[in-house]
Amino acid sequence: MADARPFHWEYHPEQPAPEAFRIEGGRPLRGTVGVSGAKNAALKLLAAAVLTGERCRFENMPEIEDVRVMAEVLADLGVVVDHPAPGVYEVAAGDVDWKFVPLEAAAKMRASFILLGPLLSRFGHVIISNPGGDRIGRRPVNLHVDAMRALGADIAYRNGYYFAQAPGRLRGGDVTFPFVTVMGTENAILAACLAEGTTTIRPAAQEPEVDDLIAFLVKMGAEVERTLPDAITVHGKRRLRGAAHTVMPDRIETGTFLVAAAVTGGRLTLENAACQHSGALVEVLARAGVPVSCGQHAIEVDASGLRPGDLRAVDIETAPYPLLATDLQPNLCVLLTQASGTSHVHEAIFEDRLEWLSELRKLGADVDIPDPHHASIRGPARLHGAEASIGDLRAGASLILAALAAEGTSLIHGAHHVHRGYENIDRKFQQLGASIVRSADPA
Ligand code: UD1
Repeated sequence: MADARPFHWEYHPEQPAPEAFRIEGGRPLRGTVGVSGAKNAALKLLAAAVLTGERCRFENMPEIEDVRVMAEVLADLGVVVDHPAPGVYEVAAGDVDWKFVPLEAAAKMRASFILLGPLLSRFGHVIISNPGGDRIGRRPVNLHVDAMRALGADIAYRNGYYFAQAPGRLRGGDVTFPFVTVMGTENAILAACLAEGTTTIRPAAQEPEVDDLIAFLVKMGAEVERTLPDAITVHGKRRLRGAAHTVMPDRIETGTFLVAAAVTGGRLTLENAACQHSGALVEVLARAGVPVSCGQHAIEVDASGLRPGDLRAVDIETAPYPLLATDLQPNLCVLLTQASGTSHVHEAIFEDRLEWLSELRKLGADVDIPDPHHASIRGPARLHGAEASIGDLRAGASLILAALAAEGTSLIHGAHHVHRGYENIDRKFQQLGASIVRSADPA
């Protein structure tokens, strides 16, 4: 019988007790799994809802910690946030008592900085904390601040807070970034929607999550378009209206399941997956010899016929979309431990995103890290169970993948990093035949 209890959402959850994943590896994964809504779209959509006083509704929202944190940050500002059913959020920002995003919000989640643009353009002022977030590099926000200044904002920095003002309205202008920034592009778009006049943004990030945000803004009545693959033009409006939107599928979670099948010799069907957003990933998998086939809304991967040593070494380099996502690099490193030969990895976006490889070594990976942007991985390695610690979200999912591929039992500490961005990851893997349980962390 279905669970008859009404769906209950805890608004201010207690700080969760530390948890670890206990994983017994070596089992091929088989079956069908649904891909959740994209974290990196969901967070910006929630922020976009602040641009109007009318109610907005979102479906296919991932049930992850980062979305809960963003909902909590909005509620603390005085925004009404309802969560009537799993995957559904409604946001009404009619009354916003505070235009203040505190240190606590920023420390929990760097993406809270996406509220700079919408709060500034709608209310003309905001005080927002300098964010922390993942431990994968310095991750400054100077380009977001420069973009707001290009739209006429006056921004001062004191004691860890940005004090931003735009008396009257923001003014449209040219936002020129020195290189591609995803959230910088999104913050500029969100600010420009209610600015007076026309804004151009270049180079604009081409990530599909940016287009999901644009699609929602257009439903709200905004005039935003990609005039070139890397150029976006926004004609500012006086007001926007409420709208409804279904969040696009998460292409990073898609990659995690594809690699999971490949490294366990499994066979999976991924439902609600958008193959058109995974071109660079599918190309790497094909070069490595992983059989992947794309349907309209599903992806199939069948590694059940592969023998140890069949996978081939591949050199990979991360770059902005449409090239290979840095968020997929850690997952692919696990794949490369199982490939014959030496694979070279160039992490071009973030400077600390290879550090987690020292944890992967504990499970038997043969890895060299000559400098913070380069690694080489020799395979195929016989991975074995071990104890390792998660330092950030994407490294966390990758240590799970390695433990699923390894012989024996692993204890992976720091599960909360993974809950930030993966919905029910343990349950999803269990349904595919994995032995993975969450337990109180004994460490
Ligand atoms: C987003 C994604 C993250 C992904 C990253 C790169 C969200 C919530 N997060 O992060 O998962 O890994 O894109 O695809 O969508 N930079 C600056 N100054 C700035 C902003 C960025 O120097 O003001 C640098 C960063 O340090 C990095 C590069 O620009 O080296 C690209 O970062 P960016 O695209 O901005 O990443 P995020 O948008 O923060």
